[in-house]
Amino acid sequence: MQIIQSGEILGARVEGLDLSQPVSPAEFVELEQALGRYGVLSYPKQVLTSLQLKQFAERFGQLEINVANAYQEPGLPEVMILSNKVGPDGKPLGLSDAGQDWHTDMSYSKMVAFTNILYGLEIPHRNGEPLGNTEFVSMHAAYDDLSEAMKQRLEGKTITHDFAKFWDMMRAKPGSARGPLTPAQRAAKPPVSHPAVMVHPITGKKVLYANPGYSMRINELPEAESDEVLAFLFTHQLQAKFQYKHRWQVGDVLMWDNLGTLHNAVPDYRPDEPRYIKRCQVMATRYFDLAAA
Ligand code: OGA
Ligand code: MN
Repeated sequence: MQIIQSGEILGARVEGLDLSQPVSPAEFVELEQALGRYGVLSYPKQVLTSLQLKQFAERFGQLEINVANAYQEPGLPEVMILSNKVGPDGKPLGLSDAGQDWHTDMSYSKMVAFTNILYGLEIPHRNGEPLGNTEFVSMHAAYDDLSEAMKQRLEGKTITHDFAKFWDMMRAKPGSARGPLTPAQRAAKPPVSHPAVMVHPITGKKVLYANPGYSMRINELPEAESDEVLAFLFTHQLQAKFQYKHRWQVGDVLMWDNLGTLHNAVPDYRPDEPRYIKRCQVMATRYFDLAAA
C-alpha cells in the first residue's frame, strides 16, 4: 500500500490496496492517520460488492442507516444510492440532489459523522472531463488562518446546527423534488449544539466546526453578533486557498473526514448524463462518547 499526497491543501491517493479484501490492522492505522492529515482519500480502480463496501466502511465506526431514505441497497440498508438515474418504472434509482451546496454531514446530529465512503460506479464525463466533482475545504487550514482575536472570540462558544436549514435551502432551488419536512420529520431531528472549535481526534489540532449548510447560531452571542460572526466564518472558510476538488473516475472509492473538512457536490451534469454512486455514512462513535455529551 502506498499513500500519495496530492501536494494540495487536502487529498491523497491510496494505491495498491484492494478494498474487497480485509484491511490489516497496521494498514487501518495508516489509513486513519492519513484521513486525519489529508482530509480526503481516494482509492482508484476498486471492484467491490455492496457488502464489501459496507465491510470496509464499518471498520471506521458505526454506520448510519437513514430511515427516511428510500434509496437503500436491498437487504443492505447501510448502503445508500446517490444517482440522477431513473428506473424503467420512472422512479428515481437514488437520491438525486445529495450534498449540492457546502455542508458537513450530520453536524445536525448529537453524534456527528466521522467519514463518508462513496464508491463511484457511473461518472458523467463531457469532452473527456469528469462532471459531478466533489469539492472540499480544509477546516484545519481555515482555523489556523483566523486572526488571534477571532480565535479568542470563538473559544468556548457553541453553535446550533439544524437539519431543516439545508433541507429548506435545497427545497427552494428550482425543480427540487423535496417536499416540506413534515412535523414528525422535524421533531425527529431537533437542533443540536456543538463546540465552534474542536480538537480533531486524529490530528490533535484545532478545527473550525461550522458550516453554511446547517449552522444557525452562536449560542453565547446576541443574535445580531452571531449573524455577523457566522457570515464572516462562512465566507472565510470557503476561500479558494482552502479548497480541493476530487475529479471522479469510475471505480474510485472516496472517503473524507467530516470533522476536518466541508464538502459540496457540484451539480454540473444533465439528467441524460448518468451518475451512480454507492455510499456509506460512518458516525464518529470511535472518538466521541454520547453519554458524556
Ligand atoms: C454526501 C455528499 C457528495 C457527492 O454523500 O454526503 O454530499 O459528490 N455527496 O455526491
Ligand atoms: Mn454530504
